[in-house]
Amino acid sequence: MTASSGTHEPARRFDGRVAFITGGAAGFGLAFARELAERGASVVLADIDAAAAERSAAALAAAGHTVLPVRCDVAAEDTVDAAVARAVEHFGGIDILVNNAGRHLTRYNLPFQTLARDDVRELFDVNVMGVVNCSLAARPSMAARGGGSIINISSMASHIGTSPYAVSKLAVRGLTVAFATEFAPDNIRVNAISPGLMDTESAMADLPAELVRDIIDQRQLIHRQGRVADIVAALIYLCSAEGGFVTGETLKVTGGFPLYS
Ligand SMILES: NC(=O)c1ccc[n+]([C@@H]2O[C@H](COP(=O)([O-])OP(=O)(O)OC[C@H]3O[C@@H](n4cnc5c(N)ncnc54)[C@H](O)[C@@H]3O)[C@@H](O)[C@H]2O)c1
Repeated sequence: MTASSGTHEPARRFDGRVAFITGGAAGFGLAFARELAERGASVVLADIDAAAAERSAAALAAAGHTVLPVRCDVAAEDTVDAAVARAVEHFGGIDILVNNAGRHLTRYNLPFQTLARDDVRELFDVNVMGVVNCSLAARPSMAARGGGSIINISSMASHIGTSPYAVSKLAVRGLTVAFATEFAPDNIRVNAISPGLMDTESAMADLPAELVRDIIDQRQLIHRQGRVADIVAALIYLCSAEGGFVTGETLKVTGGFPLYS
């Protein structure tokens, strides 16, 4: 479907809206950007990998979408502020912020004892402070436009784990409640999604095939591979008018893991 197809019902269209997506160059972030753009939004791909953001933006632009790539390290307040300012200057404001950029590879899922303190700090800087930096930077523009929607990408790990990664994503859920409360006077809703095991390239490359099979066959209630599209659908609901009465929530999209184990 293209931006001009107009086949989506009005409640789930985003014409005239601007979506700022961290980690927008790849994986979930790029899929969010593509879907929002297909539904009429202008999208900002804010990524630490400037070259990847440029390439992904070129592909979206070639498909007829309105897109701006910006370099941004979510852990660094100055680059976040600059990227938000650039987006506001280019598109006139921000309506949707997707706090998606995050470190998630296996080494962060080992016990705290096994990680150097600097690695833990770096992980928390990106996964936790990244959400703080981007949310605070985007708030004034969203408020000036009469409100908006923030979606934080947490993880299933935060519901079951105790690793540095799991704890960083538990903090993301805490920040979701905190900012839902703090930003409510500006008509900004803040929600989170906890994806289960999903087939992004990076996750599939990182995880052993036996672990993937075990999660799908033994631990999920729905025995199929989680797809990026499952998370995109949740994002569209939460930031659409249909999700307009939902704030401070975390939606698990995990095929039923970890409802039992
Ligand atoms: N893939 C999964 O199964 C899964 C499951 C649960 C949660 N998540 C979460 O979803 C999010 C995205 O996951 P993914 O699989 O698409 O990741 P990915 O590694 O495929 O893509 C992440 C993107 O973020 C960018 N990025 C990394 N650090 C950044 C920083 N400091 N500032 C700005 N951009 C940065 C990368 O350059 C990349 O483009 C992460 O927060 C991850 O923890 C993923």
